[in-house]
Amino acid sequence: MKGFVKKILENQTSCAKECATAFAPSNIALCKYWGKRDPQLNLPLNSSLSISLGSLGTKTTLSACTKQKDEIWLNGTVQDTNSIFAKRISEFLDLFREHLNNSFFTVRTENNIPTAAGLASSASGFAALVLALNDWAGWNLSRRDLSMLARLGSGSAARSIFTGFVQWHAGHQADGMDSFAEPIDVVWPDFRIGILTISDQKKAVGSREGMNRTTNTSTLYKAWPSQVENDLKKLHKALRHRDFTRLGTTAEHNALAMHATMLAACPPLLYFQPETIKQIHRIHQLRTDGLALYFTIDAGPNLKLLFQKEQQSAVQSAFPELTVIAPFSENI
Ligand code: PMV
Repeated sequence: MKGFVKKILENQTSCAKECATAFAPSNIALCKYWGKRDPQLNLPLNSSLSISLGSLGTKTTLSACTKQKDEIWLNGTVQDTNSIFAKRISEFLDLFREHLNNSFFTVRTENNIPTAAGLASSASGFAALVLALNDWAGWNLSRRDLSMLARLGSGSAARSIFTGFVQWHAGHQADGMDSFAEPIDVVWPDFRIGILTISDQKKAVGSREGMNRTTNTSTLYKAWPSQVENDLKKLHKALRHRDFTRLGTTAEHNALAMHATMLAACPPLLYFQPETIKQIHRIHQLRTDGLALYFTIDAGPNLKLLFQKEQQSAVQSAFPELTVIAPFSENI
């Protein structure tokens, strides 16, 4: 990983500022990333496509720390050096220290994603950290390079460098230099996402282990690359034509196909709770009754509803507890 960072920072000179702050949005994949071709460089087996969540995400402030260790804060509370959160950030910063005078940092992370929403914050967290580093060190990296650096922290963080619809290209090269995200030039102001929280409990199997287990043991995984290839084509077409039915149908199919590969892993990965299944049936019934409502779901029990502005009041009366996000109409 250090070699990869060195390559990206090859022509950069570092000139430290006192402090730097950056924001990155969280994102939800409509075509999922599931499986790594290189776990070290965090290279995916398949490309993915997401929508960033507007002003919901992570704000990170970085400054040099005079102690001989990093000081990591999360939402106003200093974290124990041995906590999983602090360790993950410090290990990520280790990749950069030789380019930064071997500095240690005070990192203040603020997530405005409601913690009860059970949304992963690692994507926006690593993206915001990389953006803050770029600013703090006075580098002039392209967004493409920043997305590759964010990828080293968490795969989906590559997409959080951008707003709106984003594609992360899996790439083919062994050195990982062609695996980056880029924005898709589509603005869809009526697009809505609803976070339906089923549980905010930490998941039993994280995405790294889940992907590993699926690629190593699931007999259904061999069908996944062609599923993704078809779904990406359909999603691009849907985005070009603002065809919501095609987009919703494809995103829902893609998420359930990913869960099918997980269910066929050994031991099986079952991220659904009974309540997840109950709500999926409700969504299907509402759709049968004429509501243009779809969902997607990641490696956890929570549902992310997909709909448009026109359906917002009907969707909110069916799901009063929903957190609604308008990714194109918030100032960030
Ligand atoms: O970026 P990671 O390692 O947290 O993996 C994300 C995996 C999914 O959320 C299930 C899919 C995706 O593309 O975001």
